[in-house]
Amino acid sequence: MKFIEFKTELEAAKHVSEIIAKKIKSNHKINLGLATGSTPITLYKCLVEDHKHNHTSWANVSTFNLDEYYGVDYKSDASYHKFMLDQLFKHVDLKLENTHFPEPKGADFDKLIKSLGGIDLQILGIGVNGHVGFNEPGSDAHSLTRIVDLTPLTIKVNADKFFAGKMNEVPKQAISMGLASIMESKEIILLAFGKDKADAIAKLKKATTFKADFPASILVNHKNITVIYDKAAGSDL
Ligand code: GLP
Repeated sequence: MKFIEFKTELEAAKHVSEIIAKKIKSNHKINLGLATGSTPITLYKCLVEDHKHNHTSWANVSTFNLDEYYGVDYKSDASYHKFMLDQLFKHVDLKLENTHFPEPKGADFDKLIKSLGGIDLQILGIGVNGHVGFNEPGSDAHSLTRIVDLTPLTIKVNADKFFAGKMNEVPKQAISMGLASIMESKEIILLAFGKDKADAIAKLKKATTFKADFPASILVNHKNITVIYDKAAGSDL
């Protein structure tokens, strides 16, 4: 696992957007795995800027999102479908029929990803409790896409970030790619910004083997993963 620290979130996001734009330009067809939450917002802004100024075309890109709340209306502000549309999809020339989200019949999503050639690059965030996607502590290393229960901590964190603190408005379940699904990606870039993530990044640095109480530790077994974070997230020794 490679760790790279940047001074700021913006510098890190620019770096990753350049990697993605280069891959998009140099590949006839590319499958990107995308994350939601607060972490990738600056990255998506940089990618939109790149599309505007450098004209990187997303016409041959297919996207696969990590997770979605279970039971939400995909047009509502709570949904990750809407988040992706607002943050990225509607600003680039991506064909909406090439965007994919996990469906309640989870196994179909894993089959779909495989049938379309697998994910070339997966962008990940990390929860303060070490979740990746919505694979909460206790997740199985062999888990595939499925419906999961969110922990009270995740509900609280997401309420504060996206639901004006109203925990009762946060869906209690989600559909998430599993840990094994994520591990199938050919390359992974995990992003972490801010001091709230410092503990998780310190734990990831120390991890040597998978422990279910810290799901991100599965990533120590991946052959091509880079963890990119800002100074604040790297501040816990
Ligand atoms: C969220 C998402 C994850 C995300 C992680 C970190 O709840 N489901 O995909 O990577 O938790 O979130 P944030 O980027 O808001 O800190």
